[in-house]
Amino acid sequence: MKGIILAGGTGSRLFPATLSCSKQMLPIYDKPMIYYPLSVLMLAGIRDILIISTPRDIGAFKDLLRDGGDLGINLTYKIQESPKGIGQAFLLGEEFIGKDSVCLILGDNIFYGNSLSKMVQTSAKLKRGCELYATEVPDPQNFGVAFERNGQVYKIEEKPKNPGSNLAVTGLYFYDNDVVQIAKTITPSARGELEITSINNKYIEKGCCKINKLGRGFAWLDTGTHEGLFEASQFIHSVQRMTGTYIACIEEVAYRIGFIGKDKLLQAAERCKNTDYGAYLKGLYEQEI
Ligand code: TTP
Repeated sequence: MKGIILAGGTGSRLFPATLSCSKQMLPIYDKPMIYYPLSVLMLAGIRDILIISTPRDIGAFKDLLRDGGDLGINLTYKIQESPKGIGQAFLLGEEFIGKDSVCLILGDNIFYGNSLSKMVQTSAKLKRGCELYATEVPDPQNFGVAFERNGQVYKIEEKPKNPGSNLAVTGLYFYDNDVVQIAKTITPSARGELEITSINNKYIEKGCCKINKLGRGFAWLDTGTHEGLFEASQFIHSVQRMTGTYIACIEEVAYRIGFIGKDKLLQAAERCKNTDYGAYLKGLYEQEI
């Protein structure tokens, strides 16, 4: 399975903070936002990853993550000229996806929960159809909302005015290879975007869309507004301090999953030696000797 991180957009709800830099480059407590979705793909065991961003911001992501070699993964990059919708990821990524299945994650989505690795590793084995992740939220009108009948989702509606369901579809999606052709058949919505919800509804119509519900022990954090960004940082800070383990420490993930050896772990620790992040990596290196 291939992976795509969609890290473009305008970030207008975060102005002026994002007037001249990507939202996904802003720190969530101690690391750039993109580390969080990247860690989810890596936890799923995905090594070939395409990062899509704006003409302005793509260079910054290349500077940050380069070819992925430090993490034992292969990174490629693609420009999205303007934010024409999440569904455009599959058109921009057609060549990259080739004949494989694909997992798309939005660059501003943060997931945290105990069984996340197992869940995404299972989803990454998907053979046919699609797998989505949904969770109950207090403000469903801001999301794609899943409607259920007899425990089965029968449609997803994009930002409904009167939701009647509070089950929001998160920004983590697994698809079989059909998604590329399906993306070609959908037309832009009234707001001019190729909606991911239109693609997901096609899978629902075909009867091959599985929705995994994230339970109460899960956190899906919103980082799209100043308030959300600040609270997400506080959350990460608290969990890291209280548990003594790091969230989305990509070098740790790479090491534990076997993508890199101790040499690269030490290099990363040295690079960040003036920070607790570096000390954490060093501790890991010494522990595992
Ligand atoms: P949004 O939060 O919907 O949009 P945005 O990031 O531009 O922010 P704002 O609403 O404040 O202007 O985007 C969700 C994620 O998807 C985010 O990580 C950006 C990404 N995205 C793209 O990369 N390209 C797109 O065409 C769209 C619609 C979103």
